[in-house]
Amino acid sequence: MRKKVLVTHQVPGERIHELAQHCEMNVWMGPGLLPASTLAEELVGCQGLLCLLTDRIDRTLLDSMPDLEFVSSMSVGVDHIDVAALTERGIAVGHTPGILVDTTADAAFALMLSAARRIVEADRYVRRGNWRAENAWSPEFFTGKDVSGATLGIVGLGAIGRAMASRAAGFGMRVLGWNRSPREVPGIESVSLDELLVASDFVSVHVALTGDTVNLLDADKISLMKTGAVLVNTARGGIVDEQALAQALGSGALYAAGIDVFAQEPVAMDNPLLALPNVVVAPHIGSATTLTRTQMADIAADNALAAIVGDPMPYCVNPEVQ
Ligand code: DGY
Repeated sequence: MRKKVLVTHQVPGERIHELAQHCEMNVWMGPGLLPASTLAEELVGCQGLLCLLTDRIDRTLLDSMPDLEFVSSMSVGVDHIDVAALTERGIAVGHTPGILVDTTADAAFALMLSAARRIVEADRYVRRGNWRAENAWSPEFFTGKDVSGATLGIVGLGAIGRAMASRAAGFGMRVLGWNRSPREVPGIESVSLDELLVASDFVSVHVALTGDTVNLLDADKISLMKTGAVLVNTARGGIVDEQALAQALGSGALYAAGIDVFAQEPVAMDNPLLALPNVVVAPHIGSATTLTRTQMADIAADNALAAIVGDPMPYCVNPEVQ
């Protein structure tokens, strides 16, 4: 009998069509994202799930899904999935590492440059009609902070962190790096997290969100940052204490921030970061290019296809169950 697979959103790419030929596929057609209650209803009786990072897969959901055999997420991060609970049940979890490395590092660098050079603030200034003769070019007009030649601290030396370092080399930056399990990377000076925060003009976050990294940059760590530094986060919101960050940005202790990810997504409009002109925000678009999203969907479909035909998933988070 063909296995039943729920796909929680329409996804791009060709491989999803191949997957459809090997299973009984039910694709949520929207509108919008699949609500949690509908996920619980639609998943009943399914052997497979192809989901997005917006779908929460927890123990409560799993308890009512005895038929589930695999989960394939179209994301590299799996903090929306209780991997331990799935592993206990022998359910394989697939994800999409590698393919989004350069795209996400590009986005982090873009946020860093935008925050340092006040690009979004300047855009708003022009569009609001403020660029007039009495308010035009002058020596102090829209002055920002130099990126070239500055010191960049990279928190997390996985593939995206290292891709960030190679971009920084082109800007003549000194690069410091910290990783939970110390890692020597050519071109990156390995330091402690505190040393990195004290010495960096720019800090970019590239660790996964796990039990160990929740609130990694809390009020104490943020207070160590160099006066006038810039923080960039394209990893996960829960890694940085948003209230403490907003406080540091509002008081002038930090110069600016570029934030693509929030503890709660979509972000609440009363999040204090949104009220600050020196914060460039984006709606979790680090991997958002057409090519990368297509490749992520293809890998997610390949992981699901492998599970259906009984092969190991090419990219499995818990290979011990395969
Ligand atoms: C991921 O895949 O985890 C990224 O956050 C998507 O942008």
